[in-house]
Amino acid sequence: MASHVVSSGGKPHVVCVPFPAQGHINPMLKLAKLLHAKGFHVTFVNTVYNHNRLLRSHGSNTLNGLLSFRFETISDGLPETGKDVTQGIPALCESSMKNCLAPFKELLQRINAEHDVPRVSCIVADGIMSFTVDAAEELGIPEVLFWTTSACGFMAYLHFYRFIEKGIIPLKDDCLTKEYLETKIDWVPSMSNLRLKDFPPGLRTTNPDDIVINFLIRETDRAKRASAIILNTFDDLEHDVINSMQSILPPVYSIGPLHLLVDKEIGEESEIGQIGSSLWREETECLDWLNTKPRSSVVYVNFGSITVMSAEQIVEFAWGLEATGKHFLWVIRPDLVAGDVAMVPPEFLTKTADRRMLVSWCPQEKVLSHPAVGGFLTHCGWNSTMESICAGVPMLCWPFFAEQQLNCKFCCDEWEIGVVISGEVKRKEVEAVVRELMDGDKGKKMRDKVEEWRHLAEEATEGKHGSSKLNFELVVNKLLLKK
Ligand code: UDX
Repeated sequence: MASHVVSSGGKPHVVCVPFPAQGHINPMLKLAKLLHAKGFHVTFVNTVYNHNRLLRSHGSNTLNGLLSFRFETISDGLPETGKDVTQGIPALCESSMKNCLAPFKELLQRINAEHDVPRVSCIVADGIMSFTVDAAEELGIPEVLFWTTSACGFMAYLHFYRFIEKGIIPLKDDCLTKEYLETKIDWVPSMSNLRLKDFPPGLRTTNPDDIVINFLIRETDRAKRASAIILNTFDDLEHDVINSMQSILPPVYSIGPLHLLVDKEIGEESEIGQIGSSLWREETECLDWLNTKPRSSVVYVNFGSITVMSAEQIVEFAWGLEATGKHFLWVIRPDLVAGDVAMVPPEFLTKTADRRMLVSWCPQEKVLSHPAVGGFLTHCGWNSTMESICAGVPMLCWPFFAEQQLNCKFCCDEWEIGVVISGEVKRKEVEAVVRELMDGDKGKKMRDKVEEWRHLAEEATEGKHGSSKLNFELVVNKLLLKK
């Protein structure tokens, strides 16, 4: 890959710091590419662990091929696992809070001492990497925090402290019943008709010292120190929630869906467009397989980078899919099943041989936008949700953790583009909802509805007046380029 020589004089320099997990690195890299297109020198900071994974999955020539877009690393302070897996989320939360500030400040110092690189002029960090705010304040430069969740998910995190104030958590030992999960939560601004079960399952704890809950309370509080908050969503989709955040936070800007902005502003063929962020090697053969399938005939199944299920659950999904008679593309990460190598029954493999493809990681955006894909069985990670909306693909929702339950609730009830699958997973239910999605009236209605949202997402990211496009310009010009 050719290198560009960059003059250091006067160029703005943004340091981008994602949280070290796939669902956070992907949108941050997109944002970094957009900033580069706006003329920024970009330094993208991964943890050593993830940088090594990127080198393995993409090869070293795709990283640091451009002088104006550099990758740097800091240590996460965690012991090496020697495995190709997402590190434990509680451990990452704790370690980023405790271990990352010192190496990050050293990195900034080193960069600022280099004479062929512009001085760091601003920071864009993940909302849950708020240690970076300390460094930005020390240098006297603006920092924008990027919460990579939905607005509704972020709103829930912002109110975790009130669950404690109201005595809802920590739970008493014996109160985690089905009835208790139906407890109405109608006091989160702009989010009515919700129940405890729609909120992050991490809240269902008896432990007053729960690492993740305390971490999120701390991080949402520290968000107030940023110059602005940005979200990978668009105004038409989450208008009320975004609006009601404005009074409790620095200015909040919706700038998504980022991958549509990237498609429009950068394009895949450019050198920057080709920098990838998959931590696993993408098995692109699945695209050839999709090419052989009729329009809207394939069910795409993928539970993202963190979900773990039980051996029983994967078997129920398998037989449910088998019973539909449909074609399906199923991404089974080697670590998808808790404590074991993910396995599906051999008889299932034999029975479905002529109508399925199983891979361990795929180029998801390309898969979702392939005409053969007619439905997405997903865990409702926010990136997956956005990508599905932008591809006009309706969803079957099996939320796992974090804000996914809320994303699911909004997909099903507010945006009318999804149907929920119950947590226990029974093959009969999987079969029924897949059939309804692919062939039924409800599936047709969801397909029409998701097409409407897709259209609005396109509008938000194009022309002179697209809301996300305008917001992105504002963030760049008013905040990141502020002297
Ligand atoms: C999660 C969720 O974003 C979120 O709910 C939570 O806050 C923490 O992180 P993850 O579970 O990985 O991340 O899901 P998702 O947000 O959907 O991100 C996965 C990303 O990996 C997507 O951009 C998707 O396109 C990509 N991916 C996934 C692939 O490229 N190939 C795959 O096979 C699977």
